[in-house]
Amino acid sequence: MSKRFYLTTAIDYVNGAPHLGHAYEKVLADVIARSRRSMGQSVFFLTGLDEHGQKVQQAAQDQGKTPQEYCDGLAIQWQGLTTTLGLTNDDFVRTTQPRHRQVVQTILQRLHDTGHFYKSPYTGFYSVKEETFLTVKDRNPDGTWEPQWGKVVELVEENWYFRLGVHQQWLIEYIEANPGFIQPDYRRNEVLGFLRSQTLEDLCISRPVARLNWGIPLPFDPEYVTYVWFDALVNYYSVPAALGDPGAAAGAPAGTGAGPELWPADLHVIGKDILKFHAVYWPIMLKALGAALPKQLLVHGWWQKNGAKLSKSTGNVVDPFAVIAEWGLDAFRYYVVRELAIGPDGNWTDDGFRSRYNAELANGLGNLVNRALNMLTKYRGGVVPARSDKVFLTRTASTAEQVRTHLLGFDLQGALQEIWSLVTLANQYVEQTRPFSLAKDPTKALELDDVLYDLVEVCRVLAVLIWPFIPGTAEKIYAQLQVAGSPSDWSQVAWGGLTAGHQIGAPAPLFPRKDLAPAK
Ligand code: MSP
Repeated sequence: MSKRFYLTTAIDYVNGAPHLGHAYEKVLADVIARSRRSMGQSVFFLTGLDEHGQKVQQAAQDQGKTPQEYCDGLAIQWQGLTTTLGLTNDDFVRTTQPRHRQVVQTILQRLHDTGHFYKSPYTGFYSVKEETFLTVKDRNPDGTWEPQWGKVVELVEENWYFRLGVHQQWLIEYIEANPGFIQPDYRRNEVLGFLRSQTLEDLCISRPVARLNWGIPLPFDPEYVTYVWFDALVNYYSVPAALGDPGAAAGAPAGTGAGPELWPADLHVIGKDILKFHAVYWPIMLKALGAALPKQLLVHGWWQKNGAKLSKSTGNVVDPFAVIAEWGLDAFRYYVVRELAIGPDGNWTDDGFRSRYNAELANGLGNLVNRALNMLTKYRGGVVPARSDKVFLTRTASTAEQVRTHLLGFDLQGALQEIWSLVTLANQYVEQTRPFSLAKDPTKALELDDVLYDLVEVCRVLAVLIWPFIPGTAEKIYAQLQVAGSPSDWSQVAWGGLTAGHQIGAPAPLFPRKDLAPAK
């Protein structure tokens, strides 16, 4: 067996309902997973939930539930999101699963045995109300504390620390020598800037049970649970290890090694806010363990709505479930990938969403497919004429090649732009060739045949190109064309799939037009 292309998303905190930001990241990863699979690569796509820590413990307590009950309840909703988004994830990790806990503990024990941890007292300011340590940054210039912190006391607490400093120079050199490791480039430079200018402080990897018990117990000190980020990062490795991946043997329970080859991960798709955890702590954890490093971190930006932060308390949210219920899954998937390149921040507006829906989906792709199939039905009884190669053969091949390059380089927005320039070209071709006029002139029958072939075949090729992004629509196009095979197979992108005499099915609109009234 050969190594699979292994990609992951961040695992979401279960302390609330999923929103646009969570959904966006999962769609990006899914488009990448689907594109690789369609090109014949074997893929393993992992997503899941981060269930430990203070926030979850607090939220459960507020609802009068045990943390596990609370997580189990929300996990149903979050797992539902993977279905609603049409994700093709191969596994779904929850950090409360025994398979994960075991690997975290194995790794902790190993790092402890090899001298990477030490125990030390820490004196700091502690908010009793918020149950958290505060830093000097939280303190007002006059030495007082904001009322939100309640009573602030000076507290001495013993904890376990992970020696990071000894790896700092190695990490700088590693990132310099592997420019593809952190993408986009400006995110890599941000990490390098930080590492070059500041001394890495050791990482506190424990929390005393007395203060927080909702975590994985340290195997070598029962008074403590594991810091939630140490626990969470390990998910990328614990799932392969639990499945018996020989490449993840450093953390695996004994007797495994016959599972799928996954580790090292090829791609971690994450948001910009969690870059330091993935670009600094995670590589050092793996290095200390003697495990291989992931190949690439792909760091996306953050969505706002109407120019302001997404926030439950102000009601400034985009609920992916609601958008999908109203507009359909493919409209949502298309919009988020087309609107925002992977890197910069984006801004959701309901008007922007509607206008892309109407212009690019309903009037662009939808109209093209509907016109092409309707004209073939009307003028040729839905029977495909002889193959025509004059107009689109080279163009579709070059579009496919460009799209392939963009997909392999994770430029998903660039791929959609490329595909839509073909949509536009094909719609223009209808205007230029005027098949409705050709149909009135019997001497133009052969010309009309060519145009009709060109149009329906372009629609078929487009179905293959769009499949990773909007698979439901791609499959509808294939179904309406009644063509054998599946748009999920990239090799079908080659011109000439439709053959003379083939009978297509009944056309039906792909994206019903919505009225253009501005959003409330
Ligand atoms: N649990 C941690 C991740 C652990 S990974 C080992 C976490 N969870 S989160 O729920 O807060 O965020 C999950 C992902 O969603 C992160 O990659 C984060 O960047 C992303 N997003 C959260 N809000 C976002 C936006 N408003 N816009 C885009 N993505 C955002 O962090």
